[in-house]
Amino acid sequence: MKKYVDLSQISGMQFPFTKTEHSRLSQVDFSHLPFGRIFSDHMFQADFNGKEWENPRVIPYAPLALNPSSAVLHYGQSVFEGMKVYKSDDDELLFFRPLENFKRMQSSSLRMCMPLVPEPIFMNGLRDLVEADASWVPKGDGKSLYIRPVYFATDSVIGVHPSELYTFIIMGSPTGAYYTDELRVSIEKTYSRASRSGTGYAKAAGNYGGALYPTKLAQQRGYNQVIWTDAATNTKVEESGTMNLMFVINDVLVTPVLSPSKLAGITRDSIIKIAQYWGVRVEERDVYVTEVIDAFENGTLQEAFGTGTAANIAPISVIGHEGKDYKVPVSTPDNFSMRALQFLTELKAGRVEDPFGWIVR
Ligand code: COI
Repeated sequence: MKKYVDLSQISGMQFPFTKTEHSRLSQVDFSHLPFGRIFSDHMFQADFNGKEWENPRVIPYAPLALNPSSAVLHYGQSVFEGMKVYKSDDDELLFFRPLENFKRMQSSSLRMCMPLVPEPIFMNGLRDLVEADASWVPKGDGKSLYIRPVYFATDSVIGVHPSELYTFIIMGSPTGAYYTDELRVSIEKTYSRASRSGTGYAKAAGNYGGALYPTKLAQQRGYNQVIWTDAATNTKVEESGTMNLMFVINDVLVTPVLSPSKLAGITRDSIIKIAQYWGVRVEERDVYVTEVIDAFENGTLQEAFGTGTAANIAPISVIGHEGKDYKVPVSTPDNFSMRALQFLTELKAGRVEDPFGWIVR
């Protein structure tokens, strides 16, 4: 038996549970799970009444009643997280580094001027939802129950101020791969995702809304996603789409250093730690567009890939820059990114020892 941090010692559910009378489980085709379109039977909800958290509960997944004047609809006080729960070969339910998601949501909430969700609400809510919807966790490599905590302002006042009332929800969505093909990405120099002192490091809803238009323009030019560059100079690469960005250049794992404009990805951090554990040299630093193009031209660019919870490790096959497409060498199973993906997959399936203490049962 592997030693995991274990949330299952707490017996029974912690919060009141209203079981659905109309389970949708039998209608789901678990061999076809498009990302984020199917939701499990239940959701967790807790509310902040201006003074304290109240009414934490697991209830049937259902539409919310929101006033049209709800603050979140007008001023975007909304943050979210993305995490996954896996079913191991032994049918255990395994989370990957859930405390990191909790901590990041705290930091996003502070930036968006929202009260902090207490750890017992977040962690026990997560645990209770997964207990209620355990049969929704798909089994098999690349499959998981994607968990989406979302936290938003519900004051019914349209003056611009921090809301007093908030709702915190956790929902689950059985899912397979986010991207099914290797990615064609284009270096974006006109639009930015985030500025140095903006909200880029927060998982705030508006960061994603603002990214849609430049991404659509890139898609019209035949790319799947953009590579964001820094807002001040457009000379340094920052992220790709909704993922962090990594390269292997001359056998070194090179990735943009974290800064207030970048999201501190948990997959990003895990890949760096795996590389260091394997003795691969890692450089977290400013990465200039010119050096990426030079690395293509002098043949030292070996791999390019995005990392994220939803996308996992997504190989990039083409990078477009100033009208020219640069082809990344075809990925093979012994590439660093493919070995890291394999290792993470085995870890999450409970097949290998967890040297990092990342898996929570
Ligand atoms: C994630 O990787 O979990 C994300 O939040 C990215 C995206 C689906 C919004």
